[in-house]
Parts: sequence; C-alpha cells; structure tokens
Amino acid sequence: VTTPTTSEQLKSRLINTSTEDAEEIPGQGVYTPFFLRYVYDPLVVHFANRFTWRCPSRTLLDLYDAHVSGDHLEVGPGTGWYLDRCKFPARSPRLALMDINANVLARSAKRLIRYRPSEYVVNLLKPKQIGDRKFDSIAMTHVLHCLPGSTQDKARALDYLQSLLRPGGVLFGSTILYGGVPQTPLSLSQLHQLNRQRVLNNLHDSLDTLDTALGQRFTKHTLCSVGSVGLFVAFA
Ligand SMILES: C[S@@+](CC[C@H](N)C(=O)[O-])C[C@H]1O[C@@H](n2cnc3c(N)ncnc32)[C@H](O)[C@@H]1O
Repeated sequence: VTTPTTSEQLKSRLINTSTEDAEEIPGQGVYTPFFLRYVYDPLVVHFANRFTWRCPSRTLLDLYDAHVSGDHLEVGPGTGWYLDRCKFPARSPRLALMDINANVLARSAKRLIRYRPSEYVVNLLKPKQIGDRKFDSIAMTHVLHCLPGSTQDKARALDYLQSLLRPGGVLFGSTILYGGVPQTPLSLSQLHQLNRQRVLNNLHDSLDTLDTALGQRFTKHTLCSVGSVGLFVAFA
C-alpha cells in the first residue's frame, strides 16, 4: 500500500484498516496479489467483458469519460484499469479508492500513483464513516453483482454511496445481471458456476429490480443494458 503523502491520505489510512471482512467473504479469496497483477486484466477486463457478458471494456470506459469528475471516488477499483485510461476533466484530479480488500487497494493505488489516491478499506455492506469527505462523482463498476442478498439488500451500498455525494453529484457504474437482459449459453453457464463459487451473487438481480432500487434513492437516473450488463448513471 502506498505511503500517505498528504494529511488527508494519512487520515484516510487510519480509518477502517481492518481487512477481517474480506477474509470472511468466500468470493474475496480470488483477489490475490498474483491474480490482480497477472490474471485479472486479461481474463476479466479483456476476455469476460467482451465475450462472456458482451459489454466490452471500451463501453464502460466511455461511461467514465462521460461522468468522471475532478473529485472522484472509485468503489471496488480492481486493478485500476478504467481510472488508468479514462479522461479526467481536471489535470490533477482528487482521487479516492474504496474496497473491502487491501490487496485490491494496493494494486490499484500502485497503478494510479500519479494521482496520489487516498485509500479507504470499507465493507460496503457494513459501511463506516470516512470523516466529512464528499465527492462529485463515484463509480462502482462490476461491484453490485459481488454483493450478497437481494437487490434491495445490496442497495444499502447505494444508500451509503449516496451519502458521500455532494448535491448534484453522480454515481455511475455497471453490474452483471441475471434477469431482464439477454443471456447466452456461455453467460448462463458462467453465471451459475460463479454464483456457486460465490464470486458472483446476482441470481436475484434483474434490470427491473435495479431500476427500482435506483429510482427509490436518486433524484434522476438512467439505466440501460449492453449484453448481460446493466449500465447506470444516477444523480444525487
Ligand atoms: C469484480 S471486481 C470489479 C473490479 C473493477 N471495478 C473492474 O470492473 O474491473 C469487484 C470489486 O468489488 C470489491 N468488493 C466486493 N465486495 C465488496 C464489499 N462488500 N465492500 C467493498 N468492496 C467490495 C472487490 O474487492 C473488487 O475490487
């Protein structure tokens, strides 16, 4: 994990430094330093997004280019692939990374070191205060489908993230859905296998349930599907 370089980074590192939650969640075991460094991008960002879920990473990157702000929180950054490539509207954006998993934060923070990101270890389902920090944009790309429970259970994470947005701020992202979107034999077999392994927890998630959860919480939102993926943009 990168060394704090500002007082705010130091403060953020002192909050929520436990990773016990990650150790308790079965699907989290996959995010080893080796997997994140050598396997994640070729397997997930390049292969699965395009061929299994049929929503190429370029499409997700377009969402970032359209909505990322100069004061941005990335939730579930993975390897940091999108933030490494997206076009920030500011030359020196303020960037914060939030994840349940310290390995993920270490990998993404290293890749994004040029932005000197703050890091927050937070379990979205047991959210904790991170001081009075607020953001103009928050992205959660391919995170909701990891969270256990019904779409309404997962929506607790949306409540938390909404509380971190400034008025008029935007939450955007994507999630792999089971219902209400087209599936293929490959996507269905992967959905069932990955749900058995608890890497994904999305057999109750559909375009409709996500639309309802967003509509109940945000002033205005859009939701569309590309392949088996729901893409959303919601305004506080
Ligand atoms: C499938 S990866 C997506 C990574 C990246 N956004 C991408 O699209 O390539 C899901 C990310 O969400 C994080 N995550 C899963 N459950 C979480 C939870 N309960 N709280 C916080 N982060 C969580 C994982 O550690 C991981 O970084």
